[in-house]
Amino acid sequence: MANEMLGDMQGLKRTHYCGEVALSDVGSDIVLMGWVNRRRDLGDLVFIDLRDRTGLVQIVCDLGRSPEAFQAAQVVRSEYVLAVRGTVQKRAPGMENAEIKTGAIEVLATDIRVLNTAKTPPFYIWGEGEADEALRLKYRYLDLRRASLQRAMETYHRASMAARNYLSAHGFWDIQTPMMTRSTPEGARDYLVPSRIDRGKFYALAQSPQLFKQLLMVAGMDRYFQIAKCFRDEDLRADRQPEFTQIDIEMSFTDEEEVWTVVEGLVAHVWREVLGVAIETPFPRLTYREAMERFGSDKPDTRFGMEIKDVTPVFARSSFGVFRTTIENGGTIRAIAVPGMSGASRQEIDRLIERAKVHGAKGLITIAYLDGEVKSQIKKYLTGEEILALAGATGAAPGDLVLLVASDFDTAVTVLGRLRLELASRLGIIPKDRYNFLWITEFPLLKINEETGEWEAAHHPFTSPLPADLEKVRPDATDDEKSRIRARMYDLVMNGVELASGSIRIHRRDLQEKVFHLLGMSQEEAQARFGFLLEAFEYGAPPHGGIAFGLDRLVMLLAGAQSLRDVIAFPKTASAACLMTDAPAGVDANRLGELGLRPLEGKGR
Ligand code: AMO
Repeated sequence: MANEMLGDMQGLKRTHYCGEVALSDVGSDIVLMGWVNRRRDLGDLVFIDLRDRTGLVQIVCDLGRSPEAFQAAQVVRSEYVLAVRGTVQKRAPGMENAEIKTGAIEVLATDIRVLNTAKTPPFYIWGEGEADEALRLKYRYLDLRRASLQRAMETYHRASMAARNYLSAHGFWDIQTPMMTRSTPEGARDYLVPSRIDRGKFYALAQSPQLFKQLLMVAGMDRYFQIAKCFRDEDLRADRQPEFTQIDIEMSFTDEEEVWTVVEGLVAHVWREVLGVAIETPFPRLTYREAMERFGSDKPDTRFGMEIKDVTPVFARSSFGVFRTTIENGGTIRAIAVPGMSGASRQEIDRLIERAKVHGAKGLITIAYLDGEVKSQIKKYLTGEEILALAGATGAAPGDLVLLVASDFDTAVTVLGRLRLELASRLGIIPKDRYNFLWITEFPLLKINEETGEWEAAHHPFTSPLPADLEKVRPDATDDEKSRIRARMYDLVMNGVELASGSIRIHRRDLQEKVFHLLGMSQEEAQARFGFLLEAFEYGAPPHGGIAFGLDRLVMLLAGAQSLRDVIAFPKTASAACLMTDAPAGVDANRLGELGLRPLEGKGR
């Protein structure tokens, strides 16, 4: 093989993709291009599995029938890039491979050209053998050759095209907004970009196009969408990346019902196009309060029951001290019945109590319903009536274990909500292949930031309060009033994942200023940060609202993946690093100097 021959396609032109050669091609002379998945040497015969993004096909190199191709096949190794000319033939009876699409045929090679050689890859490309994730991320271009990631990229593409097509067909214009902007208020830390021209000043990378899309409504664009990159410097998890993509949507002269109808149509279209699955619309709706009461979460997984019940009345006259004081102090007792867990061992119960404490409860009471009796830490305090009433309230049957948390409302339901999820997944009772979409509505407008103890916007400060709660939007509102202002905000949840979030916005300067004020922002600060928006509201801002999907999350759910890393082509690690390019990286002191920056010693946090 002359080296200068490597690289081009040596006059050959591809006629077929590997995974698409079919029985109907038998007898045809074809040209394939792809990677050597595997080479097997059987003496006078060499088999090569050739791979491209469509799949595999078996190439036969036969010393007797085509000595040149057979010779060429001798040097071939895994991941070499080949052009193969040959004739499609039916496989001999009994030699078919039902595991691959092209398993009924093979290609008898007449000409094999090596277009490029390859080093031995650091992990197997075919077969999803578990390679170390760090290694896979370092060689992401090899990892991406694997079938599962190729399918994920295809799913990503099809989902984003389906969304674009749907939105375009419904009158939405794809308009780009800047990534380098001012700090945007989605509540995360900004990634900052120093200005060279104006030293000491910074752009922020957009956390979302929120303000720009609202300004596009003021500008009369009526219906906007964008597949937008967003950047947030926040703690990462399986469903959070520092750089992610939204399907961002905004509409004028709209209300909740219209936004939801558009979104339901969009979801149904994407699921039909990508998975061929019919999704039933409209989606069920739950208020935030109901979701918290029944599931202890604002993103409930409704694929299974084990709902939380208020059992305070059952224990109204309880002789158990913790229950009594909780009730006297205005607290509540909530419970879930875990099916088939009455036989839990002492250690298992201790582990559950430990988990409850990790999630914020002071303790956890368990009551096991056995045939004709119960087992519990508080058995001696329980009356026969309470045992019956508790079973009635929670639906517990013999064989079930009831978990109870006595606390304030938020703690009681969130702790049980988390245990509910952990136990359902451990017990394997979550049905697969279900897509349970639902809207969560009427979120609180404000919440207390746990770190600072200050009120902040539960979503972002441009969300409109519910008209019924407008009278509570006053400078002198009490904390209790603040906590009860509901917002015209909604989340789309599926199977326990927050897929999209949006709201009807404020479009009047006076109301926007009042909300800024409630958030503890002085007039000067509001003017400095959002003056351009407040001013825009004075030039005829239409009523408007919208929503943004996490596109990566959507694809993760479509692909049945567990992590965004399984659907993003070049993802970052949990510490926000790219192991392939080694970003983030140090920069030259001169470059920093130009920007007016000087590095500090040591690692930041
Ligand atoms: P929000 O901040 O709720 O709303 O984001 C909308 C959706 O984006 C996805 N998402 C993420 N996906 C991956 N990694 C992340 N770090 C990440 N953060 C958010 C979620 C989420 O539901 N401007 C508003 C939208 C609006 O009001 O129209 C916004 O950005 O799926």
